[in-house]
Amino acid sequence: MTDDFALAAQETPLAAVIREEIEAEGGRITFAHFMALALGHPEHGYYQRPDLAWGRDGDYETSPEVHPIFGYLWARQIEECWQRLGSPEVFDLVEVGAGSGAFSGAILTWLRDRSPDCFAATRATLLDGSPARLEAQQRALDTRNLEAEHRLLEDWLADEEPITGVVISNEFFDALPVHLVERRGDALLEWHVTLEDGGLAFVLADASTPDLEAYFADLGLQPGEEARAEVNLAARDAMRRIANRVGRGYVLSIDYGHEAPDLYASWRRMGTLMAFRDHSPQPDPLTSPGLLDLTAHVDFTTLAATATNAGFEAAPTVSQAEALTVLGLPDAMRAAEERAHEDVARFAEERRAAATLTDLEALGRIRVLVLAKDAPLEGLRCLRSIAEAYG
Ligand SMILES: C[S@@+](CC[C@H](N)C(=O)[O-])C[C@H]1O[C@@H](n2cnc3c(N)ncnc32)[C@H](O)[C@@H]1O
Repeated sequence: MTDDFALAAQETPLAAVIREEIEAEGGRITFAHFMALALGHPEHGYYQRPDLAWGRDGDYETSPEVHPIFGYLWARQIEECWQRLGSPEVFDLVEVGAGSGAFSGAILTWLRDRSPDCFAATRATLLDGSPARLEAQQRALDTRNLEAEHRLLEDWLADEEPITGVVISNEFFDALPVHLVERRGDALLEWHVTLEDGGLAFVLADASTPDLEAYFADLGLQPGEEARAEVNLAARDAMRRIANRVGRGYVLSIDYGHEAPDLYASWRRMGTLMAFRDHSPQPDPLTSPGLLDLTAHVDFTTLAATATNAGFEAAPTVSQAEALTVLGLPDAMRAAEERAHEDVARFAEERRAAATLTDLEALGRIRVLVLAKDAPLEGLRCLRSIAEAYG
């Protein structure tokens, strides 16, 4: 039976796979291993679902699905990155974790219509971990007559030739599997997943790797005593490998997240892990594996430090609301208002999109980490203050 807040737990094909895995591993697996299977299992993982969507029909709404204006505004930033790199003849635009392909579709459409020289130089690549998503992304771009390479992230990371260009992602790092930890005095323990009465249950045990303790030593801080906290070793690893592929250019990472002192503040007792289905937060992330989306806020301090170690310069993060405003959302809305009489329904949709994308209680509080390697960072359009942009 469902209650007001949660949909009924469902026995899923993946639950059986996970139970077998737990038995094979001697009775428990880390939550990170569970989350990697729940999202990425090659057959039954959430991201393999053929019907997956991130819009109003999905489990939750991501910014590129709200309206193409999100991609159009970021396209202006990408055009400026191309110019700041000296308008190279070959300019790599790489999207990591490209979902339905809507973000790249909108960016490339804007470049084709508004910046033909940049568009002609652009070599677009969409990356994902799931073949089902890559196929959907290819279909999305094909329908707009846009060309791109569609590749598995792992394959792209294995290439050695450094790129010149931009690597952009929206809600990629916050979709990677996290370790769940809890400090008890001197010990950093880790939440595992075990079997209990035939179902899946949490159990606290020793940390599975010394990397977890080392993570906090690197940060010079600790999560609160007996507070649950997430450690995203996979995000740090992905950032290190992505950063190493960039010879010259920018990495723009748009994600739910905080600086480490905020993410691991002692008042945050339950961490940030969330499970979603049909736009409803679910109380238990272990139920119905493969059917729930799981996400946890990223630690921007560690992501920035990782890129800095790979030769990048990092700017303090800005909110999506700030970034879209200085990228020209108010001007776009003024233009929309002027032609509202031609198509009122379209204007209403644009106005709703602008409000949704900048809502500081929701998508507007997503943060943007901007990194530059061998390329000017200061004064970049999305980092300017509102006074600089409109003063
Ligand atoms: C939350 S969705 C965001 C999709 C899209 N960027 C958007 O904003 O609508 C996360 C995306 O990252 C991809 N992804 C998740 N884990 C991945 C991994 N380990 N390697 C590559 N892609 C991954 C998923 O398949 C999905 O396309």
